[in-house]
Amino acid sequence: MTEYVFPGDFVWGSATAAYQIEGAAREDGRGPSIWDTYSHTPGRTLNGDTGDVAADHYHRWREDLGHIADLGLDAYRFSISWPRVRPGGSGQFNRAGLDFYSRLVDGLLERGVRPVATMYHWDLPQELEDAGGWAVRDTALRFQEYAAGIVEALGDRVHTWTTFNEPWCSAYLGYASGVHAPGRTEPAAALAAVHHLNLAHGLAGRVVRELAPAAQLSVTLNLHVIRPASDSAADLDAVRRIDALANRAFLGPMLQGAYPADLLADTAEVTDWSFVRDGDESTIAVPLDVLGVNYYSSTLVRAWDGVSPRSDADGHGKSAASAWVAADGVEFLPQPGPYTAMGWNIDPDAFTELLLRLRDEYPDQPLMITENGAAFDDAVSPDGTIRDDRRIDYLHRHIGAVAQARAGGADVRGYFLWSLLDNFEWGYGYDRRFGIIRVDYDTQVRTWKQSAHWYRRLIATGRLG
Ligand code: FCB
Repeated sequence: MTEYVFPGDFVWGSATAAYQIEGAAREDGRGPSIWDTYSHTPGRTLNGDTGDVAADHYHRWREDLGHIADLGLDAYRFSISWPRVRPGGSGQFNRAGLDFYSRLVDGLLERGVRPVATMYHWDLPQELEDAGGWAVRDTALRFQEYAAGIVEALGDRVHTWTTFNEPWCSAYLGYASGVHAPGRTEPAAALAAVHHLNLAHGLAGRVVRELAPAAQLSVTLNLHVIRPASDSAADLDAVRRIDALANRAFLGPMLQGAYPADLLADTAEVTDWSFVRDGDESTIAVPLDVLGVNYYSSTLVRAWDGVSPRSDADGHGKSAASAWVAADGVEFLPQPGPYTAMGWNIDPDAFTELLLRLRDEYPDQPLMITENGAAFDDAVSPDGTIRDDRRIDYLHRHIGAVAQARAGGADVRGYFLWSLLDNFEWGYGYDRRFGIIRVDYDTQVRTWKQSAHWYRRLIATGRLG
C-alpha cells in the first residue's frame, strides 16, 4: 500500500496502565495488589524492579496531560487501579483514589480528549487473591461491585468503558505459567480464572449499560495469530487447540454466548468446567459497542510427538503459556526475525490477517486497536534527541496493516499506540522501553522520541505515506 488516508473520524490514541505508570504505591490509601506482592518477591522481575515509583504519573498527571494534548490525541486509554479506589477489594471505597481518576477524566475532557477507561489491567487487590483470586467465583462478584462504584463516580464522563485488558494474560500467565502475578502454576485454576474473568466482564458490562447508558462498552483481548509449521493434519490440529485456548475461550462466550465444544473436550482431563453455572454464558455475552484488539507479534506451532525434546520458543513466552494448560501435543517454534527488544517477531501481515478474520467471523462487530507498539533499546544522542527509527518503522508497518485491513472491509475505528510513556513492563521491569516519550527514571524527565513527533504528524494529517 503506497499511501493511505485515514478518515477524519478515525480515533488516534495512546494507552497506558495504572501499575505501569502511576507509582505512589502506598499513598492516599491505596492498598496492595498482586503486582506489588509479586514484584517485591525476589527473583520474580528483572533486576527486582517494582512499580513503587514507576513513571510517577500519580504526581505528574498534569504534565502528562500536556503531552497528550500536544500530541493531538483524540483519545487516551488508561486503567483504573482497583486497589487504589477500593483498597481491600471489598468494603469501603477510597475517596482519594476516586478523586484522582475524576481529575484525570476532567483534565482529558477539558483538552478535548476522549477518556477510555480500563477497569482491570492486572492489579487485583491482594486480599482478593488471598481469598482465591480469579480461580474463585466471588472475585467476579467483587468486580461487579467495584465496577458499580467507579461507573457511579465517573459515569458517562468516560467515553468508553473497557472491562478487562487481556484476560488471557491474567488467566494463563498468572495461574498457569506463573510468569505474571500472582505467579501460580495450577492449570485447573487457570481455566477457572478464564471463566471468572469472562463472567466478571459480563457482570460489569451490565453495570455500565445500567448506570452509564450513554457510554460505550468494550473489552480488550490479545488475540493470537497462530500459524502451523506445515499443512499436515496434526499441525493444523495444534493450531486449532491453541486457537481454542487463546482466542475462542474468550470470543466464544463474549460474542457467541457459549464456550466452544472443542475447548471443553481438549481440557476435559484438567477440569470438568463445573464452575460454569446456568445462565453464565448469556451473562457474559453482553453486546459490545466495540471490541478492543491488542496485537504485537505472531505464533508458530506444530504437533509434538510427546517424545522428542519440546520447543517452547515462541519468542515471547506468551502463547506458550497456553501449553501449560492442555496443549500437551503442541510445540511452539522459534519464529524468523526481525525481532523487537522483547524478542517478539515483527509480523505486520499477521495483524492484517487477524483483523480480516474478525471481519469474516463477526462482521457486525466494530473494532478498535487498543494496543500496538514496540520496545527497542533507545539511545539518547549527545544532542538529546532519541532517534528511534526502528520503532517508527514498526509503527508505520503496523498502522499500514490496519489500513490494509480497513481497505479489505474490517471495521477498525481507531488505533491506540502502546505506549505514551516508558513504563514498568511487568516481568521485564524498566529494562524494556515501549514509550514514544522517554522517561528518565532518575529524574522523571519526559523527552519526546522521534516516534512521538512522527505520530503527532500522522495524527494531524491522517496520511500514512
Ligand atoms: C500487553 C499489555 C501491556 C504491555 C504490552 C507490551 O500485553 O497489555 O500492559 O505490557 O503488552
